[in-house]
Amino acid sequence: MSENEVKITVRPNGPFRVEGPCKLVDADGKEWDLTGKPAFSLCRCGGSTNKPFCDGTHSKIGFQAAEAAVAAADAQK
Ligand code: FES
Repeated sequence: MSENEVKITVRPNGPFRVEGPCKLVDADGKEWDLTGKPAFSLCRCGGSTNKPFCDGTHSKIGFQAAEAAVAAADAQK
């Protein structure tokens, strides 16, 4: 991974892990302060009390999701 690349990893039954240089903004364009955070996790279960960040609630509520990537050609079949 190059230093300017952003990598988003779909964690098994958990959050989206974001690594690399990027901005995170709300609906109004206001930016979260990510100073000193080379990586962070975004909630995708809906249960976090610290949205948009994951707070670990996904484990407590038994969140389950499919996370395997499907090739574009396979997805159109
Ligand atoms: S994904 Fe972790 S709290 Fe929602």
